[in-house]
Formats: sequence, structure tokens, C-alpha cells
Amino acid sequence: MQVKIIIGTIAFMLTMIVIGFISLLEPARMEAFTEAYTGRSIENGAELFANNCATCHGIEGRAEECFDPSSGEPTGCIGLPLNNAQLVCGTRSARMEQLEWAGTKQDFIQSTIASGRVGTAMPTWGEEFGGPLQPNQVLDLTLFVLNWESEELCAEPTPEPVGWPATVAELPEGNPDNGQDHYAVTFGCQGCHGQVVEEGSNTIGPWLGNIAEEGAERVEGYTAADYVYESILNPNAHIAPDCPNGPCTEPSAMPGNFAQQMTLQDMADVIAYLLGTNEFESSAEIQLPE
Ligand code: HEC
Ligand code: HEC
Repeated sequence: MQVKIIIGTIAFMLTMIVIGFISLLEPARMEAFTEAYTGRSIENGAELFANNCATCHGIEGRAEECFDPSSGEPTGCIGLPLNNAQLVCGTRSARMEQLEWAGTKQDFIQSTIASGRVGTAMPTWGEEFGGPLQPNQVLDLTLFVLNWESEELCAEPTPEPVGWPATVAELPEGNPDNGQDHYAVTFGCQGCHGQVVEEGSNTIGPWLGNIAEEGAERVEGYTAADYVYESILNPNAHIAPDCPNGPCTEPSAMPGNFAQQMTLQDMADVIAYLLGTNEFESSAEIQLPE
């Protein structure tokens, strides 16, 4: 009898010790499990990104190098950079502030992917909105995009937003030689609009070799300079009639973020190059981007 009680007590204490020990280890185990799960989710997201998103947002989400999915030819990047401090850095990123998003950063990115952006080239992806991807795939993509937040990326200083003047005449004097370089290289206009000196060399956007004349005809009351300035800052304000493969589509396939990438001087240089003059005549206030 005595022995049974003693054995019973020892067994009970051992059980308690083992249970106590397991419960101590549990949070660590859960964390390891969550990490492994998140890791897998990010890996899936990377693959989904390469197959569905890189055509517009570029390799590594930098919106620098984009390729046509069917031909493999390089094209201009239509989407915004996502591997980008403005979008992913901080509890409230600069983009969330700008678009007045009240929820969390994860919700912001997840809902943008799921529902797309109306009035822009960003498609709807979530099946609940008629897109091709399931909610867990949208989550994988979200975690993949959030994963770009790194100390290195977020250490870059945030550029001050440029205050764009309402009329083109308020820009500084343009330098057409620098403008040529910006057109061909810095901002990749040539990748879509072709060479200004060669009609028909355009691939996605209209040929701009005659924009000094054509631009003055596009919008009632606008000079060519007004029109070109507005077209670069706010591509959706007006849609050009003719693109290489038929009428230009709406929303515009032209990137909407030159307002964030250019300085006033870059803008003046590009316009001077396209119009062949650095005296910009203006007869209207343009629609500035949001
Ligand atoms: C056909 C081109 C295209 C494709 C394909 C595309 N996007 Fe976009 N995406 C855009 C454009 C254009 C914008 C900018 C919309 C705007 O002006 O607000 C955008 C915006 C976004 C934004 C918000 C960025 C910001 O700074 O506000 C996220 C996030 C995003 N896309 C994720 C994705 C993901 C993930 C995929 C793949 C599942 C994808 N996109 C596929 C064109 C595309
Ligand atoms: C990803 C391809 C792409 C890139 C890069 C691009 N554009 Fe465009 N652009 C287009 C498309 C497509 C249109 C026609 C739709 C529209 O009007 O927005 C267009 C329209 C224009 C127009 C109006 C043309 C007309 O005939 O009415 C001008 C001007 C223009 N772009 C200038 C530029 C400049 C300058 C750059 C570089 C800073 C640039 N674009 C970069 C695709 C692009």
C-alpha cells in the first residue's frame, strides 16, 4: 500500500514536470512553426510573383526590367516599384499616408492585390473579385511583398515630393541634350515610344517624333507643351488615339509614377527634347496627378 502511494506520487510529479517542460517549450515550437510556415508562404509568393506580376512590376519588384511574357522581349515597366521604401517601410508607409489608408500595412497590400486599382492598369487578382487567385495565394504574394522591408532599403532617405506647377511655363529652362539622355536611358521612354528620329520604331506607346505638331491638336485649348507636360505627369488625364497595335487602351499603359521619379529640371529637359524648343508656350492649367 505504502509503496503504491509513493510510486503514484512520483509518477504524478514526473508527469507534472514533463507537462511543465512541454508548455515551456511550446511558444518556441509555435514560433518555429510559424516561421517555417511564413517562409514557405514567401517562397510560394516569389513564384507567383515571377509568373504573374514581374511583367509589369519588374524583376525583384523594382520596376526597372520588364519582359513581355509571350515573346520574352524587354518592354517598359507599366507597374510601380514594389520593392520600394515608400510602399513597404514603416508601420505606416509613405504610400498608406498618401492614399489615406486607415488599416494595417498588410491589409493595404493584400487588398490592393485582391481588388486591383480601378482606373489604372493594376488588375484584380482575388477570386472573390473575379480574379484568378485564391485567398491563400494573395496572402503568399502579400507576405512576399512585405518581405522586401529591410534595414538596407529603409535606410535610404525618402525623397521630398516635387511640387509640380500647374502650368508648363513655370518649369525651368530645359536642356534638350540632357532630355535625349533622359528619354532614351534614365526614364526608359524610348522602350515604349521608340526613337524620335525613326517613325515606326515605337512598340507600346505612340511615336513621338511629330508630337510638337500632333500635341497641339490633342486637347482643345492646350499647346503642345501643355499636352506633353500633362501626358507625362498624369497619363490617364487624356488617352492618345493611336498605339502600335490599334487604339490606345484605357487606363493608360504608361507608368503613372514619373511625378515621383523626375525633378522639375528633368521634366523641362525631356519636354525641350521632344518639342525641339525650350520656350514653353502655355495656354492652360493642366490636371495634376493625385
Ligand atoms: C498589367 C500590369 C500589372 C500587373 C500584371 C500587375 N500590376 Fe500591380 N500595379 C500596376 C499598376 C499600373 C499599379 C499602379 C496603380 C496606381 O497608379 O495606383 C500597380 C500597383 C500595385 C500595388 C500598389 C503599389 C503602390 O505603391 O500603391 C501593388 C501592391 C501591386 N500592384 C501588386 C501586384 C501584384 C502582387 C501583382 C501580381 C499578382 C501585380 N501587381 C500585377 C500594374 C500591374
Ligand atoms: C510602358 C510604356 C511607356 C513608357 C515607359 C512611357 N510611355 Fe508615354 N505613353 C505610353 C502609352 C501606351 C501612351 C498612350 C496612352 C496614353 O495616352 O496615356 C503614352 C502616351 C504618351 C504621350 C501622349 C502621346 C500622344 O500621341 O498623344 C506622351 C507625350 C508620352 N507618352 C510621353 C512619354 C515620356 C516623355 C516618357 C518617359 C518619361 C514616356 N511617355 C514613357 C506608354 C509609355
